[in-house]
Amino acid sequence: MIIIGSDHGGLALKTALNSYLNSRDFEVIDAGTTGAESVDYPDFGQKVAETVIAGEAELGILICGTGIGMSIAANKIPGIRAALVTDAFMARMAKEHNNANVLVLGGRVLDEQKACELVGAWLDASFEGGRHQTRLDKITALEKKYAQQ
Ligand code: RB5
Repeated sequence: MIIIGSDHGGLALKTALNSYLNSRDFEVIDAGTTGAESVDYPDFGQKVAETVIAGEAELGILICGTGIGMSIAANKIPGIRAALVTDAFMARMAKEHNNANVLVLGGRVLDEQKACELVGAWLDASFEGGRHQTRLDKITALEKKYAQQ
C-alpha cells in the first residue's frame, strides 16, 4: 500500500501519479488534497507520515509546490525518512542508500512524465543495507537523543 498526499501546489502531479501507480497495480490511499483551494502542506505531510509509521502503508509520496515544505514537515515524525528528489539518480539513491519511506516531489518543479519516472526509479530500487544501515541507525539515535519527553 502506498499513501499519496499533496497541497494545492502538488494536486495536478498527485492526480497523474495516482494514474501511474494504478497502471502499475499498486494499491493507493489518496490522503488529499482534493481541490484547488489553498491548504496547509503540514496537514497532509502529517497524515501521510503517520499512516506510514502506523504501518497502514509501506510507503508514502508527498507533493507540494517545491517539495521543500513537505519534506521539512514529514521529517519531523520519528521514523520517517522523507527524501526530496529532482532526478532519477536521486530517486534511486533515496531507496538504495537512505531507505526513504517517503518520496517528496515538487509539483511546480517537475512535469508529469518526469515525476512518474522518479517514482518508478524509487519503487524499483532496493535498500542496500550494510554500511547504509549503520548510518540510518545513527539517524535513529539522533531522533532518540532529541525526542521531547
Ligand atoms: C504553497 O504556495 C507552497 O508554499 C507550498 O506548496 C510548498 O511549495 C512549500 O514548500
